[in-house]
Amino acid sequence: MSEPLIVNEKDGSQFGQMPQDTILRAALRAGIGMSYECNSGGCGGCKFELVEGDIETLWADAPGLSERDRRRGRHLACQCRAVGDIRIKVSTASEYVPPLPPQRQGAVFTGATDITHDIREFRFTTEGNAAFLPGQYAMLDLPGVGASRAYSMANTPNEHGEWHFQIRRVAQGKGTAALFEQLRPGDEVGLDGPYGVAFLRTDAPRDLVCVAGGSGLAPMISIARGAAEAGLLQERRLHFFYGARTPQDVCGQAMLAVLEGFGDRIRYYPVVSEPGEDWAGASGFVHTHLPAVLPASLPEFEFYFAGPPPMTQALQEMLMVDYRVPFEQIHFDRFF
Ligand code: FES
Repeated sequence: MSEPLIVNEKDGSQFGQMPQDTILRAALRAGIGMSYECNSGGCGGCKFELVEGDIETLWADAPGLSERDRRRGRHLACQCRAVGDIRIKVSTASEYVPPLPPQRQGAVFTGATDITHDIREFRFTTEGNAAFLPGQYAMLDLPGVGASRAYSMANTPNEHGEWHFQIRRVAQGKGTAALFEQLRPGDEVGLDGPYGVAFLRTDAPRDLVCVAGGSGLAPMISIARGAAEAGLLQERRLHFFYGARTPQDVCGQAMLAVLEGFGDRIRYYPVVSEPGEDWAGASGFVHTHLPAVLPASLPEFEFYFAGPPPMTQALQEMLMVDYRVPFEQIHFDRFF
């Protein structure tokens, strides 16, 4: 049977859908800039309207759709597959065109290292290059876990096929249970990527600000490493904020400390929201510290951030509404 053909009536584009692909992944693989962020059903960025044909829905209750969306017949392209040829209406834009085409491949688990009491780095190798941009993520198909999980790479692109993910254990999370408890060196998983639009802009002329919260550490570390490797930090500064819940959750400094310029052009600021009695550093919500700590007005920086939705939302609002930072200087993917 031939691949289903998907036609987007909004821009006239059309593309085929391979058997394992969702509509979103098929579009991105074909180089079409369908709007999206999380690829996991949470953000609602990939909503589309079905005009004709049949679809299969992978996660009917995905939080990316509101009740109103459902009443209006909206669907999520990252949670639907075409069953035969279909016609849809969906937004596309050049900023969503993948800079590197996502590819499916097998990845072998080679080992893991603890970073904190609940964040661990998992390392995989693929036969081909690890082709991605710092800040992007991949979808992993893990043994015994139905849906793919999105995890950001913490390392930088390389020719050795090395993919490193720093992942926080989620209570009752099937994906992290498979990773933390079942995976053994030599096991193979499915890896599809890269995805994500919050990648390092090497041509942006401003000093960089990275803000990470929780497991948002990985993409921000990748961006810091990528900026150092690209020579950006010879001339520019990088301000790296990490928002942790408690002092024992603080991390990231050791990975930055090995980069040239740490302590001078690279600065690290941990902020703890539940400090307890022994924490002498900054406390509160991480985003509230940026205006006082940064050495210039906020619109003079390029911002990258990743973390829990309340953090990313508060930061986005603060930057855009309170400080009028242009949207083109703000880069984040929302995960839920
Ligand atoms: Fe589909 Fe986020 S809900 S990309």
